[in-house]
Amino acid sequence: MASEQTLIVIKPDGIRRKLVGKIISRFEDKGLRMMDLRLLVFSPKEADEFYSVHKGKPFFEELVSFISSGPAIACILEGDHAINTVRLMTGATKSFEAAAGTIRGDYGLGLTENVIHASDSPESFIKESRVIFSRS
Ligand code: CMP
Repeated sequence: MASEQTLIVIKPDGIRRKLVGKIISRFEDKGLRMMDLRLLVFSPKEADEFYSVHKGKPFFEELVSFISSGPAIACILEGDHAINTVRLMTGATKSFEAAAGTIRGDYGLGLTENVIHASDSPESFIKESRVIFSRS
């Protein structure tokens, strides 16, 4: 398979808990290449756009407020099957149900505060990375 790119965002809880090095190391150890990296604080407008697929859901407001509550780190990773590989390494959305050995399974207990986001498709990757990397 041709190489593919994906996006991860280490959420504000991951930064506050100083998990950045451990999380990035996992992807490097796996053999994924880091193509871009950015520290940012999402504006409410960017957060709204980033999570627009969830607009109207009961957790949307809380999610937007949390993701813009402090610094986050966005990283573009590249490698064969990168989207699926990174999603598997990230683990289930509900950290309290995520398998041991996954990032959420090892480092989180929350649902909204679940340490990391990873794009779920090529279309999401394009849309989400545009929100983050087209800002000045
Ligand atoms: P993420 O993978 O970033 O995608 C959407 C986010 O919404 C999810 O992780 C969680 O942080 C958050 N969220 C909060 N409540 C829910 C819920 N009930 N179902 C799915 N996602 C939720």
